[in-house]
Amino acid sequence: MKDATHPDPQDAGPAIPDAVIAEAAARLDNGEIVALPTETVYGLAARADDAEAVARIYAAKGRPSFNPLIVHVLDQEGARRLVHVGHRAALLMKRFWPGPLTLVLPARDASPLAPAVRAGLPTVAVRSPAHPVMRAVLARCAAPLAAPSANRSGGVSPTCAAHVRDSLGENVPMVVDGGPTRAGLESTIVAIRDQGWSMLRPGPLTGDAIAALLGPERNESCTGIEAPGQLSSHYAPGKPVRLNALHAEAGEFLIGFGTVRGDFDLSEKGDLVEAGSRLYDALHRATHAPEERIAVAPIPSGGIGAAINDRLRRAAF
Ligand code: TXA
Ligand code: MG
Repeated sequence: MKDATHPDPQDAGPAIPDAVIAEAAARLDNGEIVALPTETVYGLAARADDAEAVARIYAAKGRPSFNPLIVHVLDQEGARRLVHVGHRAALLMKRFWPGPLTLVLPARDASPLAPAVRAGLPTVAVRSPAHPVMRAVLARCAAPLAAPSANRSGGVSPTCAAHVRDSLGENVPMVVDGGPTRAGLESTIVAIRDQGWSMLRPGPLTGDAIAALLGPERNESCTGIEAPGQLSSHYAPGKPVRLNALHAEAGEFLIGFGTVRGDFDLSEKGDLVEAGSRLYDALHRATHAPEERIAVAPIPSGGIGAAINDRLRRAAF
């Protein structure tokens, strides 16, 4: 089975000319926003230390200002300039970075981050992406890059360059086309607590993989809004969504899985990794289909199925 946490170099997407990487980095250094591929979904990047550049992200997405951004760094060293990295966070970074794992950690007092990145929280979400294009741009940029998914706030996340243009249009001056993304679901977000850890957003890296290193999840009661972006309604495809459908009813576009065959299938062989990589493409297709409603086949909840079902519940809300 394919492993969502370990990129296959053959899957890296089309080769991007060095001049394109250089242009993207130069625009970012200048305070512009640029859409870039990562191994999860496309991100809308800006330098994280520039308040005006960060404001451009919020404006282009129509994102509420209370929803903080993930900061992308090359490696653990890059993260240590921004946050306090304790023993448990270091273990996870060593094992899973670069890759689809975001860690929420206490912010350093003397951090260069624009305040809007944190949206008032005492923590910062940091991630080291595995995609070669994102890494090449990060290596050239003067600052770490804040990057939410490159879609209008509340919409379906983009897994190819066309989705980005569809959703953001003229709001993004440059989209670097790295082909379809591999994991297809946003990174797993884990908060490291004084004691234990909590899953803030299920993703390609499963809770079991985290628990294997840190022990079982321990949900300490949180103060305030802990994962402000995790609103119940999200990933909205713009049409009503019916879950656990075994057949399409009249007027429904059916997204299939396994033996439930639909107008578009997430994975005919019932492979959850493949299904995760195709989920947002399926929702984009359903949005553009003539049918007025969307139905989705049942998806098992094990492994990456937890993340797929999380996104589907929000899409259906
Ligand atoms: O895979 C991904 O994570 C992609 C790619 C582009 O890296 N990014 C992404 O960003 O999904 P976004 O903004 O769509 O989702 C980030 C989530 C939001 O739900 C936000 O509320 C949460 O991370 N977040 C950011 N900073 C946080 C913090 N300090 N504490 C808790 N949640 C935080
Ligand atoms: Mg998003």
